[in-house]
Amino acid sequence: MHFTSAILRIPPATCASGLTTASLGAPDFKKTREQFNHYVSILSDLNLTVTVLPANPAFPDSHFVEDTAVVMPELAIITHPGAPSRAGEVATIEPVLARFKRIEHIRNGRMDGGDVLMVDRRFFVGLSGRTNREGLREFAAIVEPLGYRVDAVDVGAGLHLKSIVNYAGNNTLLLSAAFVHHPAFAGFEHIVVDSEEEYAGNTLWINDTLITPDGYPRLLARLKKLGLPIMTIPTSEFKKMDGGLTCLSLRF
Ligand code: GLY
Repeated sequence: MHFTSAILRIPPATCASGLTTASLGAPDFKKTREQFNHYVSILSDLNLTVTVLPANPAFPDSHFVEDTAVVMPELAIITHPGAPSRAGEVATIEPVLARFKRIEHIRNGRMDGGDVLMVDRRFFVGLSGRTNREGLREFAAIVEPLGYRVDAVDVGAGLHLKSIVNYAGNNTLLLSAAFVHHPAFAGFEHIVVDSEEEYAGNTLWINDTLITPDGYPRLLARLKKLGLPIMTIPTSEFKKMDGGLTCLSLRF
């Protein structure tokens, strides 16, 4: 798995109207844009070819572009986001991804890209409030014939699978404690993310560099033991809207 490209979307001025379960107050728009620009510059510094799409004010969550698609070497799957207010976000992503990949669709089921974790030739798919069994079935019908293994994981109370499990390279998963013994994650090294720092478990692995939210010292100390380059980045405004680092880009 080596990434060369990323697609992002500028946060809209309406971003405070998006969906959230957090009680952290409204995001500051100027700061949201600054944190977004910082994120873009990090991906560029890591030599990804970055496509930044214009803001789409009709969709306050549309900068959380990860939820609109799942991209793999062979193709891109346009999802069917599970939140009704976000379903229309896919219309403006499809023509962009079509420049890079053959396109497939989740049509009848529901799926958010934040529920799909790719690790080499495996996919872990979270069943959540956003992704249902029909979405999983349609997804598996597309990727299993390509040789991918698909494991379903019940996310429970979390928003997305990647709120609780992420890949940190070198066969290592960052996991919330409740998922450490899940059979789908056997065979991996585990770094357990403390419940107080659960947000930072949504750390982004890009070609053996880790990008992690700043302000989470215990997880940072554990990540340092992996021996990979680490970049920390402010995420306060995204966190207010239930957004993490993986949410902000499609990487392929
Ligand atoms: N605000 C991100 C989401 O709930 O989808």
